[in-house]
Amino acid sequence: MISGAATIRPLLAHSSLDPAGLHRLTAVAPAQLDPNADRPQTGDVPEPVYEDALARVMCGDSGRLLEVVGTLGANLVITSPPYSLGVDYGQAGYADDQPYARYLDWVRTWATTLLNVAAPGGRACINIPLDTNKGGKRAIYADYLRIFQDTGWEYQTSIVWNEQNISRRTAWGSWLSPSAPFVTAPVEMIAVFYKGSFRRPASGRRGDITRDEFLAWTLGTWTFPGANPRRVGHPAPFPEELPRRLIKLYSYPGDLILDPFAGSGTTLVASKRLGRASLGVEINPAFCALTIRNLQMVALAAAS
Ligand SMILES: C[S@@+](CC[C@H](N)C(=O)[O-])C[C@H]1O[C@@H](n2cnc3c(N)ncnc32)[C@H](O)[C@@H]1O
Repeated sequence: MISGAATIRPLLAHSSLDPAGLHRLTAVAPAQLDPNADRPQTGDVPEPVYEDALARVMCGDSGRLLEVVGTLGANLVITSPPYSLGVDYGQAGYADDQPYARYLDWVRTWATTLLNVAAPGGRACINIPLDTNKGGKRAIYADYLRIFQDTGWEYQTSIVWNEQNISRRTAWGSWLSPSAPFVTAPVEMIAVFYKGSFRRPASGRRGDITRDEFLAWTLGTWTFPGANPRRVGHPAPFPEELPRRLIKLYSYPGDLILDPFAGSGTTLVASKRLGRASLGVEINPAFCALTIRNLQMVALAAAS
């Protein structure tokens, strides 16, 4: 279970975060905030920056999460990691343009960390594309399946998310010719893994998924639109529908949900609405602030 009080750290000082508005945070006088504080870099231990009754946010490198939370006991990991596609995630010290082999080594590092912070029977739902095209065609989904199983995760299933995004169709290879045509699948994958045993006994608890949801969502093709990055204020968010379905399908109310690449905090928002505890780790302080704001909106909506 998550414990410990959070304070606003100097690393959030550059944002327009209003300390007074944050639930259960220790307000820090503006003079104490250091606008020149170093931004976290890859390799920096995550620091707590926000906590409310259900959600906690840490700012830093999720690859070092184990050092600060120990055996956290996360019941469900839901995340969409960077794909090394050169996305601009801000000046947070994370460069999204590693050579592919180095990128896969990095995936191996945090997949191992996640296994160590997961509870026995914990599940991990990883949202990734089927293929990427940067620097040549890469079967990134297949590489994730291999790496996660190499690190000790067991494979359970894959869900095809049909986000109906056909705007990506710009490269045809050889138009109307079998010379070298490109085929692109307008879908993303959600690879589902577990730690140890997939069966999690109810032990007196009940899930909160409805009959209709269960019937629909256990068919492994999900069709709903993606999120609008401009509206969310993040370059690569997923829609709340994605974690909402995974949380109801794979966790009990009261479980702990972890997103090690929290971005705008979509997983934490969905968790909060569904009565699950959550921990989000994000390296960019501006996105940590965005996550906190989004969590506050949920609290405000619930109160009104
Ligand atoms: C694809 S985005 C996640 C978006 C999120 N699912 C949402 O709905 O907003 C990946 C995020 O990982 C963050 N990130 C990159 N490297 C990180 C690291 N080592 N530790 C924690 N976060 C990291 C990026 O800043 C980015 O916000």
